[in-house]
Amino acid sequence: MSQHFQHDVLVIGSGAAGLTLALTLPSHLNIVVLSKADLSNGSTYWAQGGVAAVLDDTDTVDSHVEDTLIAGAGLCREDAVRFTVEHSRDAIQWLIDQGVPFTRDDESAREDGGFEFHLTREGGHSHRRIIHAADATGAAIFNTLLEQAKKRPNIQLLEQRVAVDLITERKLGREGQRCLGAYVLNRNNGEVDTCHARFTVLACGGAAKVYLYTSNPDGACGDGIAMAWRAGCRVGNLEFNQFHPTCLYHPQAKSFLITEAVRGEGGLLKLPNGERFMQRFHPRAELAPRDVVARAIDHEMKRLGVDCVYLDISHKPAEFVKSHFPTVYERCLDFGIDITREPIPVVPAAHYTCGGVVVDKHGRTDIPGLYAIGETSFTGLHGANRMASNSLLECFVYARSAAQDMLSQLDQVQMPTDLPTWDASQVTDSDEDVIIAHNWDELRRFMWDYVGIVRTNKRLQRAQHRVRLLLSEIDEFYSNYKVSRDLIELRNLALVAELIINSAMQRRESRGLHYTLDYPDLLPEAHDTILEPPTFGD
Ligand code: FAD
Ligand code: SIN
Repeated sequence: MSQHFQHDVLVIGSGAAGLTLALTLPSHLNIVVLSKADLSNGSTYWAQGGVAAVLDDTDTVDSHVEDTLIAGAGLCREDAVRFTVEHSRDAIQWLIDQGVPFTRDDESAREDGGFEFHLTREGGHSHRRIIHAADATGAAIFNTLLEQAKKRPNIQLLEQRVAVDLITERKLGREGQRCLGAYVLNRNNGEVDTCHARFTVLACGGAAKVYLYTSNPDGACGDGIAMAWRAGCRVGNLEFNQFHPTCLYHPQAKSFLITEAVRGEGGLLKLPNGERFMQRFHPRAELAPRDVVARAIDHEMKRLGVDCVYLDISHKPAEFVKSHFPTVYERCLDFGIDITREPIPVVPAAHYTCGGVVVDKHGRTDIPGLYAIGETSFTGLHGANRMASNSLLECFVYARSAAQDMLSQLDQVQMPTDLPTWDASQVTDSDEDVIIAHNWDELRRFMWDYVGIVRTNKRLQRAQHRVRLLLSEIDEFYSNYKVSRDLIELRNLALVAELIINSAMQRRESRGLHYTLDYPDLLPEAHDTILEPPTFGD
């Protein structure tokens, strides 16, 4: 039997953004945090490098802002960048107070008046400003925040719950625009429950799974972006999909990232013949912004017809490598690669969704009562290319800001009543799951081939044609069969793919992560690509 639930705050997503928001809200509020698989399934758990913040006395807010603006290729919103960076120290202090075991610096640095935690360096940053927990920062943050959340009786953590769609006054034909909650598939019994909420938060992560090769875990399907769009929210800058330059290339390794901090600590990119090449592409060589490094690798792989390039840190002392990168060391060893002695085969893979649901500084979307935070959102921080380790920072800063905003409105918002139960009377069990699996593969392959690191008008048109066919097939499937996680994700991925393609077709220049052979130059003025859903402003 499907059920009805009531919560003050419904948080869809249990990553850095969702858990931070839940923990920041006061304990008299009744909060539920959902995850569509187990609680750790988001990207947060897999984050390696760390969190960028202005922590050292030799660093400044202006410098972090400037580096972010440069990486963002003229498209960052400077007020959003400054807002984020100015709140970075407080956000990190909050994490330290929660108990996150960041790696400490050695004695000598502290005697020199340095910061007590070790700060590493990554591409685009002119300072060492990445606080980290060895090379498993995400797991350290996630485990700490989860432990804290478990201690809070007002926070209910529910696994295996997939939000299907948002419930809004407009969709119900009621007066007003407010979001009233969401329909949520309980994967334990196959029923779709009705969640009533005073505030609903999309903290669903990104959409990198739209590409065949990705560093992201399986759930990164753009669910939050798709739900927001269907509910009537604008989305922004979805053409900027970040490809991480260095994912492990090995037939048995699925989605394993080699952190950028390896290059930050001296790792060198090499061709199969051992020759370095990054200095030919950018003065910062291996530490150039990520789009430059990914494109350079893609270029060299195509030029030489090779399957991968190599990342070499074997010239550093073995103990240094093992202590800084224990996770990377162990994982590579599992595949027979000893990184203290030999270079690591690497390729670029889809990594981060820079665009998302348009929000303001408090994570407020176009729909009252609906917030979007973390990778789901488009705050203006990343512009045309996210700088390394700014995304976790964005999760913390905006989650905390959204929580404050909700508190300021609490008195004026009632619990919604009389929401209709999900209607499953017209659908049956699917007997054709092969169609879903086939469409998943097809979508991710043409997105990789036609909407990847290097684009052209023709490739984008092909992709648009194919995605429209897929969307109509999926719609038919969705109308006739009971929802499952795979179907929900495919429906969302296909929609987000279409939004990415449409955004890419609107941009008639090459900027940051969007590179097209038909418009290789930069236009003199930078503009965001904001898409409005058909129902926007109704
Ligand atoms: P996520 O952590 O992705 O969590 C998403 C949550 O939403 C999950 O709980 C999921 O179950 C839930 N969800 C999604 N859809 C639904 C639905 N329909 N119903 C219910 N629940 C749903 N960034 C950095 O700043 N520094 C780094 O070092 C770094 N390293 C990275 C390494 C890797 C391998 C990857 C993949 C990313 C890395 N990033 C890094 C990026 C960063 O980790 C992510 O941007 C960030 O963790 C996103 O957090 P989030 O809370 O927005 O979403
Ligand atoms: C990495 O560790 O290289 C990932 C950092 C990031 O994506 O910000």
